[in-house]
Amino acid sequence: MKNKKFEFEYEVYNDISELNKQDAELLTTARAVTKQAYAPYSNFFVGAVAKLNNGKVVSGTNQENASYPVGICAERVLLGNAATLYPDISIDTMAISYDSKTVKSDHPISPCGMCRQSLLEYETRTDKPIRLILAGQEGKIIIVKTVSFLLPFAFTSGELL
Ligand code: THU
Repeated sequence: MKNKKFEFEYEVYNDISELNKQDAELLTTARAVTKQAYAPYSNFFVGAVAKLNNGKVVSGTNQENASYPVGICAERVLLGNAATLYPDISIDTMAISYDSKTVKSDHPISPCGMCRQSLLEYETRTDKPIRLILAGQEGKIIIVKTVSFLLPFAFTSGELL
């Protein structure tokens, strides 16, 4: 028997003033794009903005539905947009932020399990790590170097081939 350990490093910043200009711009856009979310049921408005490795910027917001499970998260809307507009182009960095009518947006959120699965496959198939900037409208910011840190023991396409 062997004991194995999984651990990873991430960066924590006190606020947006500590970020470099590019990251600060991406986060500012993600914070603003939450306004485009359609979230009348949860009142939790998520915005995701990504800088692709061809220099283009694409965004996504959560889109809910009266039939609740039909709703889709901001991250997967973004991936669909990116894959459609710029097929096979890898993502350098994605900023994810949120706003809410009921809770304070003063700390980072991280992608749900389903989005982690989607993000990981995007990262794998484009063969480039997706860097994540996670933050609310204010407060601390977390930067993770690759989505793969967030989904250890992932189920991948390799199992199906
Ligand atoms: N949501 C996202 O869009 N991204 C996340 O990372 C977490 C949750 C959405 C789904 C739903 O519309 C609302 O936020 C509340 O869960």
